[in-house]
Amino acid sequence: MAAILDQIEPLKQAALAEFGAASDLTALEQARVSYLGSNGKFTALMKQLGSLPKEEKPAAGKVINSAKAELEAALARRREELELKAALPKEPTDFTLPGRRRVLGRLHPLTQVTEAIVRSFRKIGFVVADGPEVEDDYHCFDALNTPADHPARDTQDTFYLAAPAGAAPALLRTHTSSVQIRVMRKQPPPVRIIVPGRVYRRDNADATHNPTFQQVEGLYVDRQVTVGDLKGTVEFVFKELMGPDTRIRFRPHYFSYTEPSFEIDFSSALTRKMGKEWLEIAGCGMVHPQVFENVGYDPEVWTGWAFGFGIERIAMIRYGINDIRLFYQNDLRFLSQF
Ligand code: DAH
Repeated sequence: MAAILDQIEPLKQAALAEFGAASDLTALEQARVSYLGSNGKFTALMKQLGSLPKEEKPAAGKVINSAKAELEAALARRREELELKAALPKEPTDFTLPGRRRVLGRLHPLTQVTEAIVRSFRKIGFVVADGPEVEDDYHCFDALNTPADHPARDTQDTFYLAAPAGAAPALLRTHTSSVQIRVMRKQPPPVRIIVPGRVYRRDNADATHNPTFQQVEGLYVDRQVTVGDLKGTVEFVFKELMGPDTRIRFRPHYFSYTEPSFEIDFSSALTRKMGKEWLEIAGCGMVHPQVFENVGYDPEVWTGWAFGFGIERIAMIRYGINDIRLFYQNDLRFLSQF
């Protein structure tokens, strides 16, 4: 027994010294294996316990176990130190260097203009409504008093999607006017909504056309609503958007879902900068009684107006942009200017 006991302390000291000297995790692991691995020196000592006389085993076992516990604790401590060291940067840090700035993103110009439009309408009590971009004939055309043989459909050709047999053919909406129908079918009057959203047309892209673009729809339904309300609202919003010198002009026009219908022109410092006094900006009118019938509103009780305009057009005038495609090319040289 004396022989084994005498060996424990020096072997422990040697192991502690090697653990302490290990300069990285690999070296530490090698040191661990050489003492505590299955063929390690300390393990060999423990195996010798078996050869001791029975009455000496408990005392010797106690000493050896406490030495082993000490070694394992030392190992864990050193491992923690070395892990910390491995996580530190190899190069010294120069705290006098200027900080690295994170590049902040910004909102797309179309989003900025949309938000400005929504902000203006919110001030006068409008709420934002939403509808699907994948629509059907009914909401996009029929319910808006534009049946399948109506010539107005030619100007709004779109993309059709395969539909399961028996289901109504699905299409990409050509205007946000479809949301008028969705909202009115869902809620009783009065209605005071604006609907910003993406629309689609089968157009070839050029400087002023893109197969997908954004619109804002407005719809106001209440008792005794007049063209005067429409004019006042449009004037308020356009003055906010395009500057206080903005003037508005209504020209007679035709839309199948309004009667009477108008096109809106506006004039401001911005239009004059583009070399024009008046620029056409939106379509609008008093909601057609047939549309009210289609959604179950009584046209003898309820009147209303609606309008729709393109957001790109507003953004192009506001920022002096001459090609609509720039909005959709994700070129940071363009986008970072806004
Ligand atoms: N939907 C029309 C278009 O896309 C714009 C429009 C005209 C909307 C008259 C309306 C309206 O709500 O009353 O060209």
